[in-house]
Amino acid sequence: MDIFEINGGKPLCGSAAVQGSKNSVLPILAASLLGDGCEIENCPALSDVDVALRILRRLGCSAEFKNGVATVAPTGREAVDIPDGLMREMRSSVIFLGAVLARSGEAEIYFPGGCRLGPRPIDMHLDALEKLGVEIETDGGRISCRAHKLRGAQINFDSVSVGATENAMLAAVLAEGETLISNAAREPEIVDLQDFLNKMGACVSGAGSNVIHIKGVRRLHGARHSVIPDRIAAATVLSAAAACGGNVELGRCRPDHMETVLKSLHEMGCELEIKPDSVALKRRGRLKAPRPIVTAAYPGFPTDAQPLLMAAGLTAEGSSVFVENIFENRYAQVPELRRMGADIITSGRVAAIVGVERLIGAEVEAADLRGGAALLIAAMSAEGYSRVAGAKHIDRGYECPEELFGSLGAKIKRKEVKDSERQQKEQTQER
Ligand code: EPZ
Repeated sequence: MDIFEINGGKPLCGSAAVQGSKNSVLPILAASLLGDGCEIENCPALSDVDVALRILRRLGCSAEFKNGVATVAPTGREAVDIPDGLMREMRSSVIFLGAVLARSGEAEIYFPGGCRLGPRPIDMHLDALEKLGVEIETDGGRISCRAHKLRGAQINFDSVSVGATENAMLAAVLAEGETLISNAAREPEIVDLQDFLNKMGACVSGAGSNVIHIKGVRRLHGARHSVIPDRIAAATVLSAAAACGGNVELGRCRPDHMETVLKSLHEMGCELEIKPDSVALKRRGRLKAPRPIVTAAYPGFPTDAQPLLMAAGLTAEGSSVFVENIFENRYAQVPELRRMGADIITSGRVAAIVGVERLIGAEVEAADLRGGAALLIAAMSAEGYSRVAGAKHIDRGYECPEELFGSLGAKIKRKEVKDSERQQKEQTQER
């Protein structure tokens, strides 16, 4: 089990490039199941990507990752089941369901399990697939799906779901007839998926708006595609630079995908120089508290960036309010931030922060991906030594964070902690 050891209080300076988007490459890897040989460039080296490649191999593909390129090809063997253990390793494993049904007409998966953010149901995914002609039986944790013939349909989502929109797109591209998805998610990752599917010969339009139109085609071929930059990884680096102070230039990013985040950082007193594919952030003097941050579906303020801006707001002058409208429980990092001296109270979906002069390093533990990133940001801006346990959560979404932040001047290193050493430490703490 790995931890991060950080000696904080140093400004971040220098330049870095943004990794490829985790939340774009995962549905694109699922879509590659439908092609006859795909090369996916700018693919980030993440544990979630590793799980996705293992699922593709389980489903009968060859799936390799080398030097930022994932290569996926059919082998002639087709399987339709994803075992429970593999499903549980990655929340968004359910994203493979639509693609397996489009390729093979049947699928056997398991509920992906909840996580710290909340129950993470998949009812909207299953409803959409039933509208496309899928017969679904659930037995305990298992989901058995059969589709004699997928047929185009009208799908109206009651609320916005990124994953359910993606699953409906993947199931509809080879269906007979036309599909109209209303109240679709509008994230840039949905547009990237549309672009990839169309390169494979699909006929998808409207992504980025709340109505997506799909004309089913008979087959898809292979394609080469470069994944868009990760807007949340970019927000993480910029929030860290805001929290620590300094001068950071972030290349290979898409500022047009992160307008709400940049607006909040500007409100906090950061100087921003924005170009089409880069953002430079300078922070001198004390941050000011941002106006209330209320998360919403894209193009609203992204829920994934809420913990990151929270970390930057901890030492800002004044008070700030966060309202988390997407997930039921996205404040798991708050008790850990309090250990560093943060002044935060939460009630349901609302968190209120009173900025303190400084944070003090502490031993903390990550419980989820973005909450863990918030702990790294707070630890880098705190005075003194911090130990951030739960690196496995952070590795799901960030390529080698110690290298990324170390290259910008942070004193951060990764350390492997044997379970025996951890148990001994816990016993000592209990005495
Ligand atoms: C995607 O998750 C992202 N993950 C999440 O990023 C992101 O936070 C989320 O979209 C919202 O933007 C990937 O793309 C891999 P949703 P997803 O379906 O698709 C409820 C990260 O840190 N809901 O848009 O699972 C759900 O409980 C991750 O990178 C249902 O009720 O999110 C939530 O409250 C975290 N029934 C809301 O909708 C359903 O069938 C939005 O969830 C599906 C979702």
